[in-house]
Amino acid sequence: MRVKREVFLTNFTNGSDKMKIGILTAGGDCPGINAAIRGVGKTAILEYGMEVIGISAGFLGLINQEYVTLDENQLSGILTVGGTILGTSRENPFKKSASFNTIDKPKLIRKHYNELGLDALVCIGGNGTQRTAALLAEEGLNVVGIPKTIDNDVFGTDVTFGFDSAVWIATEAIDRLHSTANSHKRIMVIEVMGHHAGWLALYSGIAGGGDVILIPEIEYKIETVAKCLKKRAINKKPYSIVVVAEGIPRPREMSAAQYIGNGIKELTGLETRETILGYIQRGGSPSPMDRVLATRYGAYAVELITSKKFGRMVCLKGNEVTSVPLKDVGGKLRLVPNNDPLIEKARKMDICFGSGS
Ligand code: F6P
Repeated sequence: MRVKREVFLTNFTNGSDKMKIGILTAGGDCPGINAAIRGVGKTAILEYGMEVIGISAGFLGLINQEYVTLDENQLSGILTVGGTILGTSRENPFKKSASFNTIDKPKLIRKHYNELGLDALVCIGGNGTQRTAALLAEEGLNVVGIPKTIDNDVFGTDVTFGFDSAVWIATEAIDRLHSTANSHKRIMVIEVMGHHAGWLALYSGIAGGGDVILIPEIEYKIETVAKCLKKRAINKKPYSIVVVAEGIPRPREMSAAQYIGNGIKELTGLETRETILGYIQRGGSPSPMDRVLATRYGAYAVELITSKKFGRMVCLKGNEVTSVPLKDVGGKLRLVPNNDPLIEKARKMDICFGSGS
C-alpha cells in the first residue's frame, strides 16, 4: 500500500485538512492537454492526497461556477485522448468590453476561487492564458501556469506540448502531397497554422522536404519565391513543395495559401494547387514526445504548488523542466529568430525563405 505524502499550505483556506487545487484549460486546444491534466491530477491525488477540481471551459468556468471534482478514475484512460476533457474557451476576463464595467470578471473569479476554497489554480494554456494567469497572480491568487500550443510561441520555454504532434500531422500531410505533386508535376502550396510564429511551418517544412518555406518572421517577396520555383523547373525538378504559415503578410480577405498560390501562377505560369490543413493540426492523439512533455509539466506544476512557488510558469530549458515568473512571460511571444540555426542550415541547402532578390 502506497503512503500518500499529504501536504498543507500554512495559509490554506478551504477549511479541510486536504489541499484543494483547481485546473483549467484555456485558449485553442492541442494534443497533450489531457496528458497534462492527468499529470497534475494523478500526482496531486496519489502522491500528495490533494483534492482536485476540474474547471469547465477555461476562465469562463470560474466566472460561471462550473466545476467538477476529478477523482483518480476520471483521470484514467485520457493520456492518449485529444482535445481537453475540461473544455476550453478564449474567455479573457481582463479584456475591456461593453460588459466590462457592469461585470467585474476578475473580482468574480477571485470570489469564486475563495468560495471554492482553492489553495492553488493550475492554468494550462498559451500566451493569452499565461498573461491572464499573471494578472490573477498579481491579484493574489496562487497560480501556476503550464504552457501549451501547437504554435510553440510561448515566451520563456524552449518548447510547448502540442507542437511535436502538430509537426507530425503537418509532415504526414506534406509527405502525401509529394506523391500527388510528382504525379501531376505541380507546385503544391500547403498552409499550416501559426498566426504570429513560424515554428510549425519551419519544422514541418524542413521535415517534409519543403522547397520554399514562408514564415511571418522573415519578410518575403513573391518575385523571389517565383524565381526559386522557376530555377527548380529549369533544373528539371518536376514539382515543388511550398509550405506557408497562415500568418504571413497578405491581404486579409485571402488565405495565405491562396495568395501565394495566385502569385506563383501569375509569375511562373506553373500549374499550382493549394491545401489548407486547418484544425486537423490541433486534433487527435498526442505524439509520444508530447505525452511525455505534458506529463512532466503536469507533475512539476504540483511540485511548484507543494513548495509554494506561485506566480510561476512551468517551462523546459534544455532537457530540464523548471519554472519562470509568470510576470516575465505573460503577453510576450517567442518568435523564430532570423538567424535560427535551422534556417541557416536550410539556406545552405537552397531552401528558399522568400527573402532577398
Ligand atoms: O492555438 C493557436 C492557433 O492554432 C493558431 O495557430 C491559430 O491561428 C488559432 O489557434 C486559431 O484558433 P481558433 O480559431 O480556435 O481561435
